[in-house]
Amino acid sequence: MAMPENNTAFRAGQVALVTGGAGGIGAAVVERLVARGGHVVVADIDTERGEAVAARTGALFVRTDVGSLTDNEAVVEAAVSRFGRLDVVHLNAGTTGRTAIGDGFAPDSYRALVSVNLDSVVFGIQAALPHLRRTHGSIVVTASAAALRPSIEVLYSATKSAVIGLVRSLAPSLHRDGVSLNALCPGLVDTPLIAGRRTAIAEAGIAVASTEQVADAFETVLGDSRTGQAWLVMADRPVAPFPFAELPVPGAEKLIGHTPSG
Ligand SMILES: NC(=O)c1ccc[n+]([C@@H]2O[C@H](COP(=O)([O-])OP(=O)(O)OC[C@H]3O[C@@H](n4cnc5c(N)ncnc54)[C@H](O)[C@@H]3O)[C@@H](O)[C@H]2O)c1
Repeated sequence: MAMPENNTAFRAGQVALVTGGAGGIGAAVVERLVARGGHVVVADIDTERGEAVAARTGALFVRTDVGSLTDNEAVVEAAVSRFGRLDVVHLNAGTTGRTAIGDGFAPDSYRALVSVNLDSVVFGIQAALPHLRRTHGSIVVTASAAALRPSIEVLYSATKSAVIGLVRSLAPSLHRDGVSLNALCPGLVDTPLIAGRRTAIAEAGIAVASTEQVADAFETVLGDSRTGQAWLVMADRPVAPFPFAELPVPGAEKLIGHTPSG
């Protein structure tokens, strides 16, 4: 699905919000967008690291728990009141979580995982949408390649699969308002998220992408006219939309984009 022509790559003077921007992939995207001349708001629960990224780049840091709708609304309002508009939102905060199905399953840890990885995307889009409709802006969500194949991170994969389903299903209706919505699906990336597995990853010979490669992919997606795509970002291949199999259902296109209130 192609976007209207006014939806183009990030330009100097535009305003971006990056969740999970205190480190890893988010910090690399913050640095990239600042380097492009953007006004950037860093939203993260880690105040110390978030303030450090802000001090280094000149971005604005707002302490945010992405699992809270109120916090998402507050950081969007902070961005708009400071810079007057909102053009790009990168919903990137995430965690691998601390529990697994089986012995020792911890329901509270499971809820926290769903909150950080899935509620964050629902709430982030909900909070930003009124402003993005005005600018014909873009939303990029960080999902994971762990949702595109079986993964040992079972619950993590489940939340990221939900994010991809949300992106693919919601994009057509946002498209009518000129807002694009895509998912980045990185394989392994060199960030604190994989800190405990580095030796095993190296021994397995799996290629690990740099955060700069993911920032490159982020820019590729922003500059692309397609929406509703899950973009595979691997260290050893060009970024490209994941080729989901078609499931033709006669008449389904008439329902896509329909909302209960609309
Ligand atoms: N590193 C990888 O191999 C990899 C691969 C695929 C996808 N991802 C995804 O990339 C995204 C960024 O992860 P990363 O690898 O840069 O790891 P990271 O741990 O460096 O970054 C995650 C950021 O999210 C923040 N965060 C966590 N909970 C939060 C909350 N409740 N509210 C606000 N911020 C919160 C953390 O403070 C941190 O700054 C995540 O969504 C992750 O699932 C990472």
